[in-house]
Amino acid sequence: MKQTTQAAPAGQARDAFTSSFGVLAATLGSAVGLGNIWKFPYVTGANGGAGFLLVYLLATLLVGLPVMIAEIMLGRKAKADAVTTLRVLAPKGQYWWLIGAFGVVAAFLIMSFYSEVAAWVFAYVFKAISGDILSSDPARTSAAFGALVGDPVQSLLWQWGVLLFIGGILLLGVAKGIEAVTKKLMPILFVLLLVLGARSLMLPGAAQGLAFLFTPDFSKITAEVLLVAMGLAFFKLSIGMGTMMTYGSYFRDDQNIPVTTARVMSADLFVSMLAGIVVFPAVFTFGFKPEAGPSLLFITIPAVFASMPMGHLFMVLFFVLSAVAATGAMLSILEVPVSVMAGRFGISRTKATLINLGLLGVIGSTCALSNNVLAHVKLFGMTFFDLFDFVSSSILMPAGGIFLCLFVAWVWGREQMTAALSNDGSLQNRQVIRVLYWLLKFVTPVLILLVMLKGLGVF
Ligand code: PFF
Repeated sequence: MKQTTQAAPAGQARDAFTSSFGVLAATLGSAVGLGNIWKFPYVTGANGGAGFLLVYLLATLLVGLPVMIAEIMLGRKAKADAVTTLRVLAPKGQYWWLIGAFGVVAAFLIMSFYSEVAAWVFAYVFKAISGDILSSDPARTSAAFGALVGDPVQSLLWQWGVLLFIGGILLLGVAKGIEAVTKKLMPILFVLLLVLGARSLMLPGAAQGLAFLFTPDFSKITAEVLLVAMGLAFFKLSIGMGTMMTYGSYFRDDQNIPVTTARVMSADLFVSMLAGIVVFPAVFTFGFKPEAGPSLLFITIPAVFASMPMGHLFMVLFFVLSAVAATGAMLSILEVPVSVMAGRFGISRTKATLINLGLLGVIGSTCALSNNVLAHVKLFGMTFFDLFDFVSSSILMPAGGIFLCLFVAWVWGREQMTAALSNDGSLQNRQVIRVLYWLLKFVTPVLILLVMLKGLGVF
């Protein structure tokens, strides 16, 4: 199996992305996933629509983009896993590597609930084939989803199936294969979303759906909404927890990091917007509730397909492609603990993968059972599923983001940052770097801190 993520021993060539397009596709493969198709529509729906969208866009630009650039930059510089990168780059005796360590914790929490949502998507591939979910009757599509998530055995088995599937890919060493497949299938997902979006825009509720998505109502923007929007920006771009640092370590030295990052961010936003344009017209046409929560995608999408020609076939394709997108993202989440474990403890990648999957099988099951036998078990008023989502997106990733900004701007310094982002002076991007430096030094960390403290009710 190819060793793709470990820090290479001294003197040994380290695997890296080979082409500029490869870098873009792989990074996009981590960013685009259930976050666009499932999470973006439901949190936008639950938080009032367009006002939330606006805040999310601002968070992506002022927080997401600078942090993502910083992370990729550090990873490329050190060419190692998240913990080692910060150990190598920080002055001796300082604890910046804890950002990587907390990233491992975040990866576990995210993977626990993400693999459950992926489980629903995988189950829906089969339900789509059999045709039993194809209906534009809200009562029927809701009942079908409820039956799946309410059944502990099905929920657990599908989740473990997903974990085995991901483990199988990693163990067979076909990471390259999956990357190649993802590269080919992703464009098909774009096209399918475009077709679906066009169909949705012809539905009678389209105007209402678009108004919900694009006409802001500022009264709905509370401190909590700000925190959720910022958390979504972190989750979407896979930042604040070492994933992009790890991916940055595979970047080529001549890659233009700010430009590549801006492209990934734009493409990612585009996919989320498309998902919103598919979901919300359907919500208003078929009488669903925009604030339905995590079930939103699973109850609205079948209704859109039920209302279009060849809907059955397209629906199967949609869930297959969503499963592919989820797989790419899950591989990148697992990459963080697997590479740290392999890099720090000197164990093989295979062993590290097996250990992590075993742990996830146990920890993740709390999320599989959150909608059924453990539904009444609440910590801080949340089920395990909601708690893991909240702690990762609203606490760990933003906190990781703050410390990354502080490390880059205050410890690593402007000179090193300028050299790293200009590829040692070969790129003419001094102005961009200057803006980024000031953002990272003051604006971004202060914004994250304020939103976190306000959203968590500290003041
Ligand atoms: N960005 C992924 C998505 O939106 O589906 C989720 C994700 C992947 C989060 C990787 C965190 C991560 F490290």
